Parts: sequence; C-alpha cells; structure tokens
Amino acid sequence: MVLKHYLQFTDLDAGEYAYLFERAALIKRKFKAYEKHHTLADRTLAMIFEKASTRTRVSFEAGMYQLGGSVVHLTTGDSQLGRAEPIDDSARVISRMVDLVMIRTYGQDKIEKFARYSRVPVINGLTNEFHPCQILADIFTFIEHRGSIKGKTVAWVGDGNNMANTWLQAAELLDFTVHVSTPGGYEVDQAVAGIRSANSYKVFSNPMDACSGADLVTTDVWTSMGFEAENEARKKAFADWCVDSEMMRSAKPDALFMHCLPAHRGEEVEADVIDGPQSVVWDEAENRMHVQKALMEYLLLGKL
Ligand code: CP
Ligand code: NVA
Repeated sequence: MVLKHYLQFTDLDAGEYAYLFERAALIKRKFKAYEKHHTLADRTLAMIFEKASTRTRVSFEAGMYQLGGSVVHLTTGDSQLGRAEPIDDSARVISRMVDLVMIRTYGQDKIEKFARYSRVPVINGLTNEFHPCQILADIFTFIEHRGSIKGKTVAWVGDGNNMANTWLQAAELLDFTVHVSTPGGYEVDQAVAGIRSANSYKVFSNPMDACSGADLVTTDVWTSMGFEAENEARKKAFADWCVDSEMMRSAKPDALFMHCLPAHRGEEVEADVIDGPQSVVWDEAENRMHVQKALMEYLLLGKL
C-alpha cells in the first residue's frame, strides 16, 4: 500500500470521506452491540503527546484496543523527545517498531517533518494550525443528526485557531459554507488555513450576524494550548464572543451546537447552550473514537 498520512483535513478527498463516514457508522453500530471488530489485530499505535489531552488520548487508546491492537503512550517529559533528540531520528526509530503514529504537538512543521521520516502513517492529533480528527468527528456527528453537510452553513464564533482553520479546509472540500466571526486581531488567515479561495467562507464582525440562518453553531476556547501567556488579553478581546441563547435563536430553529471540548462555561459558551437541547457535544466527543477507528483502519488497510 502507498504510505498515507493524515496531517490535515485536505489529505483525504471527498470520496474517501464518504467511505470513512459510512465505515464509522458501521464500526459504531458494532461497538454498541458488543460485536468484535478486530481488523487491526497485532498492530501497534504510538501516541506522542507534547500537549495535554483527555478525549484524544482516550479515543485513540480505547479505539486501538477495540480494533484488536495495542498502544504505546509517549510524552515529551518521559521520552527523549523532551531532551532534544531530533524529530527525524525519533521518527525513524519509532516508525520501525509500530504500525501507526498519532502526534499532538505545537507547529504543523514538526508533524510534517516527522511524517517525512516515518515509515508508517502519521495522524495529526492536534497542532497549533489544525485539528483534523476533531472536524472528522464533528461532520460525522452532523450527518448522524441532520444528514449531509453539503450546502449547509456552519457558524464559527471565536478564535481563528486550529479548529477554525480545519473547518475552512473541510468546507472547501465538502462543499458547505462557514460564517466566521472573530474579534479583531484573531482573524483566520487563509494562507495558514491552506485553502485555495475565499468562496467557502464569509467573515462577520458581529457574531450574531454569523449565526443568522446557520445549521450549526460552534465555538472553542478563547485561549488554545500553547497560548496561555495571552490569556488575560484574550479574555478582554473575546468578551462578546460567547455563544448564548440569543445567538442560537438567530440560527435556524433546528440548528445544532458543537464544541470540541474542553469548554469553559461563561466564557466562550453559556451553560444553557452547551447543556441545552440543541447541544450535541457528548455525541461529538464519543464520535471521535468511532471515526478515528475508521481512519486508522483506512490508513493501514485501505477500503474494506
Ligand atoms: N477535543 C479534544 O481534542 O480534546 P482533548 O484535548 O481532551 O484531547
Ligand atoms: N483550540 C484548542 C482545542 C483543544 C482540543 C487548543 O488547541 O487548545
């Protein structure tokens, strides 16, 4: 098989996503029915975390065991990665012993470099620039609740961060529109997002306008991991970018609310929204595991 990495959302095409969403639905059904699904028996996943995680760790680790495989968990603090062993050397060594690598790190350049020297597929578990596994789960969750996302409108309220960039990539690839509203100074950057044109997104200075008519309203923390030094400045700048019931009312009546989590109630989202009837955040979190099981299978075995 040709070596395939998943470093950003654009690494797969629309046909591959259609396959993955179908496969994830099958894998989820089998999981719920306690049916064995050991397609990756005897395969090993190395998970490298240079930033904290709850969902990504649990979903990849539990998912790989459920596929019949095993995992190795590495962090900067307990490996030579934290003692400046070059990324290329680490990639060469680790990829000789495992079948698949998942990395959560800082700059996208680090994961790109790791992938260049890796003999096995590398999956992006979040970088400063992208979070493709999360958007994979988010779109799968949207499809479960509302059907195809094609032609729909997603409102992004908040930081022009890794999640926003990945939504923009997904919109261009899967043919939907993103309404983006960020405070001044925190805009999305088309070059960083790596999209070809501005056709699939619209920018709004007022978050209420971004939510107007949306099928899905979504947000994220004001301060992403790695940007903690900016926390106080961000709290001031983002004060009006809190998803509340008024914003939800300006969206379509059947609009969904999503948040990749962890969430800060009273900051980027009010409790009555994230804990309210339009919120699908718990399905969204669970679905990380089902879509990533489909993704790991696909990268190692192709279409089954
Ligand atoms: N959404 C997400 O990636 O969560 P964790 O940081 O807990 O992995
Ligand atoms: N944008 C957030 C997402 C956390 C899952 C971060 O990068 O910290």
